[in-house]
Amino acid sequence: MADERSEVLVTHHDAKAFAVAVLEASGVSSKNAEIVARGLVQADLRGVESHGINRIPSYLARVRNGVLDPKAEPTLTQVTPVVAQVDGNNGFGFPAAHLAMETAISMAQSFGIGMVSVKHSNHFGMSAWIVRQAVDAGMMSLVFTNSSPALPVWGGKSQLMGVSPIACGAPGGENSVPFILDMAPSVAARGKIYKALRRGEKIPEGWALDEDGKPTDDPEKALKGVMLPMGGPKGSALAIMMDVFSGVLSGSAFAGRVVGPYDMSGPGDVGHFIVALKPDLFMSLEEFKSRMDVLYQRVVASDKMEGVDRIYFPGEIEQLNEQRRLKEGIPLVQAEVDALNAEAKRLGVAKIRQLV
Ligand SMILES: NC(=O)c1ccc[n+]([C@@H]2O[C@H](COP(=O)([O-])OP(=O)(O)OC[C@H]3O[C@@H](n4cnc5c(N)ncnc54)[C@H](O)[C@@H]3O)[C@@H](O)[C@H]2O)c1
Repeated sequence: MADERSEVLVTHHDAKAFAVAVLEASGVSSKNAEIVARGLVQADLRGVESHGINRIPSYLARVRNGVLDPKAEPTLTQVTPVVAQVDGNNGFGFPAAHLAMETAISMAQSFGIGMVSVKHSNHFGMSAWIVRQAVDAGMMSLVFTNSSPALPVWGGKSQLMGVSPIACGAPGGENSVPFILDMAPSVAARGKIYKALRRGEKIPEGWALDEDGKPTDDPEKALKGVMLPMGGPKGSALAIMMDVFSGVLSGSAFAGRVVGPYDMSGPGDVGHFIVALKPDLFMSLEEFKSRMDVLYQRVVASDKMEGVDRIYFPGEIEQLNEQRRLKEGIPLVQAEVDALNAEAKRLGVAKIRQLV
């Protein structure tokens, strides 16, 4: 009998086919299942396993509890030629965010910029997949979201703001990788604590406090306590910024009212804020790209501090992970595979195919 922490490899094709099958069996349309599965598998490929296919059981628990509508289709309202709003209609956050970025890109292609506010959405996983959608279309982007309370505001002791990621990107040049920043305003993303809990691992001290406000390395205690903001008041201010742009502006929940992806008490009512920008508004595309090459080269060739072998551009480590995992497969642990297969059994679909 395999140890629940033993490693299992799956190919990205099999991971995606599995995700599509369980989502479709849960009532999600083929088109939306494809979008959700692509976003989740991209997280696994990039090494952001905290936001990969392991999220499926918790998402489906929300479907079963009637707090997330698997059949919902996002709807679009054009506000001005460069501004639109998407209503997620309490469906998966992925199709709502995908439609928002698709619309922002199309407006940016015609007018240079496109801005889309999204309301009544749900968790959309790793922000970088939406930044990639823009990069693949040759666009710069901002991708903001709010999320459920996990972080105290600076000076506070209880959860109020979300660990809401700030993401943005720009296409690279001929000799550089795209710039993809995707970071939670906490010392670590909360999903990394759930991942440690699933895998029976400890977390580093300095990530979170327990219920009594004491530092802890126990993921269970950390989830009952608070995440620590990065950079003290600055991390807390960035979390508030995500709430202003994604929650207050959109008409979605804000100020600690978003319901989290592991909480079955009601609809998420998450808000997002998505902008696409044409990079050749102020110079030729060729010039922009060659300037990105200069920036990249100067960053990665910077003098290294002691103990550092290589300097990476934001998003580069994840890109290297992706190149490797596309060939070698995605590592999961047995306990995670068991949880996914339990969903498959309940829904009457095939187990996830493992590489031996
Ligand atoms: N949807 C949600 O509500 C939600 C909430 C929280 C987090 N998340 C996701 O969790 C993920 C993890 O967030 P995180 O803050 O823990 O990410 P992280 O700390 O692993 O990385 C943050 C950023 O720093 C860059 N980076 C990391 N190490 C680097 C290095 N050595 N050199 C150069 N750049 C480096 C990465 O490329 C990335 O852009 C993100 O994908 C985020 O979208 C989602």
